[in-house]
Amino acid sequence: MTQELWNAVDGYICERLLDEDQALEAALAASDAGGLPQIAVTANQGRMLELLVRIHGAQRVLELGTLGGYSTIWLARGLPPEGSLVTLEANPDYAAIARANIAAAGYSKTVELRVGPALATLPVLADEGADFDLIFIDADKQNYPGYLEWSLRLSRPGTLIIGDNVVRDGAIVAGAEDPRSADPHIRGIRSFYELLAAERRVDATAIQTVGAKGHDGFALALVTS
Ligand code: SAH
Ligand code: DHB
Ligand code: MG
Repeated sequence: MTQELWNAVDGYICERLLDEDQALEAALAASDAGGLPQIAVTANQGRMLELLVRIHGAQRVLELGTLGGYSTIWLARGLPPEGSLVTLEANPDYAAIARANIAAAGYSKTVELRVGPALATLPVLADEGADFDLIFIDADKQNYPGYLEWSLRLSRPGTLIIGDNVVRDGAIVAGAEDPRSADPHIRGIRSFYELLAAERRVDATAIQTVGAKGHDGFALALVTS
């Protein structure tokens, strides 16, 4: 009942505010055909990511967790013509599908996809001297604390760090006796909050969301120094 209502409201919003989009729909269709899990952001969430890139005037974006490139394409849409995006994906099969989707959407020159575990690629980016204006963390949840630490190293004052899936059906507030409290994904998200809470270099919030992908949320952290 509740999920049906959330689906209907997402449908209402998307019908009114989002244009039909061939490249994005093709990316989802190819991801489904390739057997990828249906865990991409929703269209209205993707549009929000695009708008955040534009509001922030970001020119260099980093994404952790490409999947089929759906959120990648939304983020790339927000960039100016000279903008660039690096996206990290551990699964080579997903990466192959993402690469084709990104090319079909016209972003093969804008987007650089690096295949491998993000915790192995992030130090390479740091060695290269890369820094980013906006970072979208959306890979495996147990590693969110490490992703936040590397994101800070790849930031400058003013960088916006966005974390996806930081509510997980409310599991973040599950009691100690609840088996979800032992789930490494949930533990990772909780540690991510603890790190944000202790980190003096960021101003942060999180917003819970409901919609076609259930009850979840986004964290926003602005790097201040
Ligand atoms: N951002 C995508 C969804 C990402 S799903 C979208 O909204 O369209 C999470 C992705 O992280 C999956 O593709 C998974 O393969 C990838 N992933 C999991 N562990 C990873 C790791 N250690 N390093 C990089 N990517 C990882
Ligand atoms: C999962 C991962 C995601 O990035 C997401 O948006 C939803 C679910 C998952 O691993 O279950
Ligand atoms: Mg996600």
